[in-house]
Amino acid sequence: MKLELDYEPYSKQLEFHNSPKKFKAFVAGLGSGKTMAGSVEAIKTMIECPGSFGAILAPTFPMLRDSTIRTFLQLLPQSLIKNYGRMEQKIILINGSEVIFRPCDDPTTIDRIRNINLGWWWIDEGSLVPEYAFKVLVGRLRNKTGPLKGWVTTTPKGFNWIWERWEKEKNPNYHLVRAATTENPYLPEDYVKTMKREYTGVFAKQEIYGEFVGYEGVVYPEFNRLTHVIDAAKIKFSEIIAGVDFGFTNPSAIAIIGFDYDGRAYVIREFYQTHITDTELAKWSKENLKEVRRFIADSANPSGIQEFKNMNMNCKGVVKQSGEKEKSFVEAGIKRIASRLQSADDGRPRLFVDKSCVNTIMEFENYRYPETKEEHPMKELPLKIHDHLMDAIRYALEEKRHKFVMAFA
Ligand SMILES: Nc1ncnc2c1ncn2[C@@H]1O[C@H](COP(=O)(O)OP(=O)(O)OP(=O)(O)O)[C@@H](O)[C@H]1O
Ligand SMILES: [Mg+2]
Repeated sequence: MKLELDYEPYSKQLEFHNSPKKFKAFVAGLGSGKTMAGSVEAIKTMIECPGSFGAILAPTFPMLRDSTIRTFLQLLPQSLIKNYGRMEQKIILINGSEVIFRPCDDPTTIDRIRNINLGWWWIDEGSLVPEYAFKVLVGRLRNKTGPLKGWVTTTPKGFNWIWERWEKEKNPNYHLVRAATTENPYLPEDYVKTMKREYTGVFAKQEIYGEFVGYEGVVYPEFNRLTHVIDAAKIKFSEIIAGVDFGFTNPSAIAIIGFDYDGRAYVIREFYQTHITDTELAKWSKENLKEVRRFIADSANPSGIQEFKNMNMNCKGVVKQSGEKEKSFVEAGIKRIASRLQSADDGRPRLFVDKSCVNTIMEFENYRYPETKEEHPMKELPLKIHDHLMDAIRYALEEKRHKFVMAFA
């Protein structure tokens, strides 16, 4: 069978297709053509090996259905399909080649592929899949009708099992192709521009440039866009307060935080601007933050606090416990925020961020400790970069704790 697909790979996709290695990985930025390259590789294999049996896997069924299968079907010429069994998630081609689609994000779904013999497989979004899935799949590659090859397409996620196998160990059976979002010539220009604007720091390295980056130095590794960033528009709040971090050359930052009736905190608005005086900041707050009941500000700047008071706003400096040193005060505050970011007994965290608060999200992802020097345990405070809204949130939540203590006293 010979046919032409409506697909012209760009250089990195071509490198991926041309690699003859048993296990290859296309690790690249968002929208860099990973799913497309993985699909074409699957179609090519099915055509070249008549009667072969393979599997296409993705973390969850919705991801499979909405992205992986959709792209695969867009590329696969209709005329080649003999049968598409939607119920059993299986496609048979007219040359007898067969492919099944399976989710593989947890042991139960992975165990369903334990007893089949595959000629090839492809995992899309492999970083979101446990290493266990890869190990099981390696053991399934023994159906002689196929090339006995497996490939993974994914954005990187730190130093995980993909990094270990494809980057660190440099096993001769493995081939790694890395690409950046910006290398895909088929993306709309605006998409790349927006990505560059929205993603900064370590996160940009990972999501745009497809680099393996470490998260050891990140202050809030618990923070995750999928879990913590929500649309807070419809939530009802029992009270709204704000944390204020004064700046001038650095941004002045205000985090406006609503509390629901269960005490969960939501950063619902943010202010983030350089070159604004404390007087201007107070004036802006007076005009724009009428819903805020109390402002809790950096106590190191009494004159800034006074500006708020002069305009009849309820503003006070964050209160340390008596005798508490600055360092332990900051550490305790960070710990409290980290514990709010973790899921509570009901599976939900106690701190969320509205999707409009892009600087808050950026700071949560980029607020870091200094690089650790070998043999030196990390005892320092976080770097004073990307810390403005982080401090503002800490002040606001600190006040909440004092109130709590008083209520029970
Ligand atoms: N070789 C190509 N020819 C034409 N269009 C392409 C090619 N490669 C990628 N694209 C286009 O680029 C866009 C992104 O492709 P694709 O969905 O495969 O990327 P992805 O890396 O899997 O994205 P995501 O990170 O969202 O999973 C799509 O619109 C796709 O059609
Ligand atoms: Mg994809």
